[in-house]
Amino acid sequence: MTGCRFPRAVHLVSLSDMNTLSGKHILLGVTGGIAAYKSAELIRQLRAEGATVRVVMTAGAQQFITPLTLQALSGNPVHTDLLDRSAEAAMGHIALARWADAVLVAPATADFMARLEQGRADDLLCAVTLACEAPVALAPAMNRAMWDNPATQKNVQALQARGMHRFGPALGEQACGEVGPGRMLEPDELVTALASLFETGILSGYRVLVTAGPTREAIDPVRYISNHSSGRMGFAVARAASEAGAEVLLVSGPVSLETPPHVLRINVVSAQDMQDAVLARIGGCDIFIAVAAVADYRPEAVAAQKLKKDAQQVTLTLTRNPDILATVTALANAPFSVGFAAETEQLEMHAQAKRVAKSLDMIAANRVGDGVGFDAEENALQVFWDGGSQLLAQTGKMKLARQLVALVAQRFHGKHKKVIRFNAKDSA
Ligand SMILES: Cc1cc2nc3c(=O)[nH]c(=O)nc-3n(C[C@H](O)[C@H](O)[C@H](O)COP(=O)(O)O)c2cc1C
Repeated sequence: MTGCRFPRAVHLVSLSDMNTLSGKHILLGVTGGIAAYKSAELIRQLRAEGATVRVVMTAGAQQFITPLTLQALSGNPVHTDLLDRSAEAAMGHIALARWADAVLVAPATADFMARLEQGRADDLLCAVTLACEAPVALAPAMNRAMWDNPATQKNVQALQARGMHRFGPALGEQACGEVGPGRMLEPDELVTALASLFETGILSGYRVLVTAGPTREAIDPVRYISNHSSGRMGFAVARAASEAGAEVLLVSGPVSLETPPHVLRINVVSAQDMQDAVLARIGGCDIFIAVAAVADYRPEAVAAQKLKKDAQQVTLTLTRNPDILATVTALANAPFSVGFAAETEQLEMHAQAKRVAKSLDMIAANRVGDGVGFDAEENALQVFWDGGSQLLAQTGKMKLARQLVALVAQRFHGKHKKVIRFNAKDSA
């Protein structure tokens, strides 16, 4: 009897219902307004949507709600002081700014926005916001006359002109008893607005197929050859493509990761399974991003029964696995194809050779080994294409994936335009 117990291709197809902020690092700034009490519920809802939340409170905010409450709800220490030696050693203002995928200041007082407009950095929240390159959103909350005051309006407009997002305020009854504009948006409205910041739409209307993770090549019913790929980079790319508006199909080797929101996932085991799954679905895809660390070789013969340890030495004969990327780029209607090259040495030379040999539109090369790349939280990529390259500096894999997808979208749209122009001229 042959291997009915072999790890087989499991073509499970699942559409994730994961939450809209899964995996996002949200830095919540709380300032000294009466609506600060709503921050507690806001933190709860942000976490319920999958975000990791760190809180920075101004001195004013601490008069309205205690750091202990927000610490308990966020599950992380609350940051309050700029000039605090112990805080600077752990999560200082620059580290917090880099950590954040987005900053949300809710409530944002008139005073805070005035300080921000001036570019001040004499309290922790102002300093972090000034140092942050991630999106910043302000949820103003104040008395309607304070909101309507030309000084506040001028500050808010200036901050928006610098690229900051404004959520609200809403019209309604206020804590001071007046009715008018100035109420902070409700926590659920803020969570929805925040989630929309991650949806760029640059790949709206396009289909993207991503491969991720390692493959496993069976030796016998219980043993296999594999590699250290965790799948995190591929999953991050799938999530970033989905955030960019694409319809994303993720073909994944065996990993223990949750499927990103709105991504259709197909689980496979071996390189052959992965190739079969990719080829069955690549038609109609606009972009193929091959992040999986596919085994180059597999055992030529798979033992039907578990190998016994009688022999002093065992020799495994390996045979070449299919080259999924090269197979896809050789298709008549090949999609825009992006490969990954994990190299331990001579990164550029090997990556460029692979790009040319496999007719790739782009290749993202990363150094692996010594704790870098595989199975690590952070990564750096050098991306090459015909006639250009760009370094994406070391950062968290999610941030890196968003940068990579933005670059892929840019090159993809560029190529697309050229083809359209060529066709138009051709038929003229
Ligand atoms: C009871 C009370 C309620 C306040 N509510 C608000 C408010 O809703 N919005 C606002 O902009 N300022 C409000 N303020 C004024 C701010 O607390 C004050 O401008 C403070 O300097 C803000 O500091 P911060 O922005 O550093 O937290 C309030 C003050 C008090 C005493």
